[in-house]
Amino acid sequence: ASLPASAPAEPGSPRDSDLVRAARRQPVSRTPVWFMRQAGRSLPEYRAVREGIPMLESCMRPELITEITLQPVRRHGVDAAIFFSDIVVPLKAIGIDLDIVPGVGPVVARPIRRAKDLEQLVDLTPEHVPYITEAVQQLVSELGATPLIGFAGAPFTLASYLVEGGPSKNHEHTKALMHGDPDLWDALCARLAQISGAFLRVQAGAGASAVQLFDSWVGALSRADYTRHVQRHSASALAAVADLEVPRIHFGVGTGELLRLMGEAGAEVVGVDYRVGLTDAVERLGPDYAVQGNLDPALLFAPWDALERRVREIVEEGRHAPGHIFNLGHGVLPSVDPDVLTRVTALVHEVSAR
Ligand code: CP3
Repeated sequence: ASLPASAPAEPGSPRDSDLVRAARRQPVSRTPVWFMRQAGRSLPEYRAVREGIPMLESCMRPELITEITLQPVRRHGVDAAIFFSDIVVPLKAIGIDLDIVPGVGPVVARPIRRAKDLEQLVDLTPEHVPYITEAVQQLVSELGATPLIGFAGAPFTLASYLVEGGPSKNHEHTKALMHGDPDLWDALCARLAQISGAFLRVQAGAGASAVQLFDSWVGALSRADYTRHVQRHSASALAAVADLEVPRIHFGVGTGELLRLMGEAGAEVVGVDYRVGLTDAVERLGPDYAVQGNLDPALLFAPWDALERRVREIVEEGRHAPGHIFNLGHGVLPSVDPDVLTRVTALVHEVSAR
């Protein structure tokens, strides 16, 4: 997708950063790098500030959000901050009874299976999430030239948590609903697209320089089902920020077959997991999309020689992409040694310097 034509970015502003430039397929000084789940349990300073504070509560306190979001930027020297929150925060904000259970993930008290269950899903407005606006504004002022990435969960991935009632391997209730009652499925996803799009819009409106739509579990679908039942809803979430001139990154796990469709939903950047090489991903996507990825997070546990070789290969593959943002193929695992992330960041910068 192409962003609206706009005034040139102010030199030294986040809009002139390598991350935003790579997303717009413009020349960069070196390959920008950040890590999904960089803010979180791999950092001792994160565990220290979170001590005794439940996950969802920490997502509603601006000063804590700001501190946790800044921690990996300070420590690793990454090229972007990812806003500290969770994909279920906007659902909690509109009153859905759910919690994030440590070691499990989001758990929903009353799963959505019938038409009357949809009543719980009201439209999200900025008034539901004043702490998000406040935290983004504070972060943007503290980050200076470093861009902040806002994010939201995509309708399919949010629907999976709501319909299953929690994390799921097979998404059986979700798929049963999608195929058994496509009208109800559509109504559910339309509501989730509004919530997801409005959550992105609050963050971009408050100053985030890019956004990422996480459709983490959509790799469970075929191309046919994605096209028929999901793509237009993700497109509507992404369209909610189309006029704000922020690059949109669209990511899912196991989505090799869906990459092109995910780009066509309205993204400038398509996230690639580690199962598809970047060169293959670029071939599938064509020249109109930048790519983000795709180091296997498990490789952060390999001996440095092996890890270094793989990082260099990914940077090299990325040089032939229309634009490349270095990242993992999925989130940082909690038990990783954070020093390895710092070293990978420096290596990407060193080998990609133009
Ligand atoms: O650093 C960052 O990337 C920013 C923060 C962030 C979190 N969740 C914080 C978090 C982001 C971007 C997310 C998105 C998210 N949440 C996704 C999409 C990304 C992905 O991994 O595919 C998904 C699927 C969720 C739902 C969710 N929330 C899961 C599966 C879990 C892990 C459960 C567990 O404990 O193993 C969470 C909890 C969560 N979200 C934590 C953090 C830091 C751990 C909570 C803690 O520290 O106690």
